[in-house]
Amino acid sequence: MEAGVLLDKLLRRTGLLELHIQTLRKLEPLMAPMASEIALAFYDYLGRDEEMRAILWEVPGRVERLYQSFADWYRGLFCGRYDAEYAEKRARIGLVHAAVGVKPSFIMPAFGIVQELSLEHLRNTLRSPEVLSAVEAFEKIMAIEAAIMQDSYMQAMACGYRLGAAADQEQALVVGARAILEKAN
Ligand code: HEM
Repeated sequence: MEAGVLLDKLLRRTGLLELHIQTLRKLEPLMAPMASEIALAFYDYLGRDEEMRAILWEVPGRVERLYQSFADWYRGLFCGRYDAEYAEKRARIGLVHAAVGVKPSFIMPAFGIVQELSLEHLRNTLRSPEVLSAVEAFEKIMAIEAAIMQDSYMQAMACGYRLGAAADQEQALVVGARAILEKAN
């Protein structure tokens, strides 16, 4: 399924309405400056896991590059423009993960950490009556992100099997994701 079509379905399924979009946009000045700090805490968390650390440090300069990519991704959550272009960029990020061998089981706990760090900041900085609507909008966009990431993995897997890499699920993911990324370039 095309990323834009998937996004439309996800907007409906999560109930991310114009009201929530406005809330996310309003949160941007509060949350975007936190992006670098959240990136630091995020990679600190990933680096504490042996398997994830091995992937992160496999390529020289990778982690340093990732601080910036992650911070850009994080600021994007509050851009307030969730359209086909947004969905395509996010789907590509999912494919990049599958292509470099980030296992699907690493992804949801990582999303959980982003949520934890962000909710703490929202709770500490917003007035009580504002917290609920902020959390509601934030949870919805995070659910959309997670679903797009999951869909990218599914597409990579299906493509990997089609290409005959079916002997091993992990290999099918890598082969499939690389093939889709190459085709898109
Ligand atoms: C909430 C989940 C995550 C987010 C939002 C995220 C964000 C990003 C972004 C924005 C990129 C750049 C993609 C591009 O080049 O277009 C990236 C790449 C990457 N991420 Fe993640 N990531 C997440 C989870 C993880 C996990 C769990 C790992 C485990 C090790 C990981 C390792 C990597 C690696 C190795 C790359 C490729 C770096 C390269 O270009 O060499 N990420 N990530």
